[in-house]
Amino acid sequence: YRIAIFASGEGSNFQALAERANAGELGGAEIALLVCDKPSAPVVQRAERLGVQAHLFKPKDYDSREAYEREIVHKLEEHRVDLVVLAGYMRLLTPVIVDKYRGRLINIHPSLLPAFPGKDAIGQALAYGVKVSGVTVHFVDEGMDTGPIIAQKALPIVSGETVDSLAQAIHAIERELYPQVVSWFAKGLVQLDGRQVTVSNP
Ligand code: GRF
Repeated sequence: YRIAIFASGEGSNFQALAERANAGELGGAEIALLVCDKPSAPVVQRAERLGVQAHLFKPKDYDSREAYEREIVHKLEEHRVDLVVLAGYMRLLTPVIVDKYRGRLINIHPSLLPAFPGKDAIGQALAYGVKVSGVTVHFVDEGMDTGPIIAQKALPIVSGETVDSLAQAIHAIERELYPQVVSWFAKGLVQLDGRQVTVSNP
């Protein structure tokens, strides 16, 4: 079972997934490649350290978002990728990838969707004053963080919480939840029917 991870930044989720895969703890899945849109992103160094091929695709090198994504799809096909995992990939995908990988394309988001989609979900949740937030793993559709939900984990917001302390707590949950969900996929346990997602015997 072959996975591509798309990331633009730090790469802590990438690292958690790659470490589990290297330890044989990802349901037998292998991280075939990293797709990155930012040459200077720390995730690129992490890939090198973890022995994962990094492929850089710079949007500026292409005439359109579609042309850019067609090039990425070629690379995914070359690597016979079964599942595309977005992990801090900071671009909205077009139908070129979304249609081709529908049901095989997932994202992780640092809030309990549908609350606080989009950028800075952690800051948005704190500013709103919610007392519970968390993490969502969901299928990707054409919208911004709108696809069918696969798994969520909630987290109480304590008094005196700051963006930094909440971000730390959220990232700790992400590092456990994302590998767990990816291993469900590798084991063929996830079914999608309309918006309903079923996970059999996780
Ligand atoms: C994570 O908080 C994830 O939920 C969001 O982007 C962040 C990526 O962090 N989509 P990292 O690059 O994996 O460290």
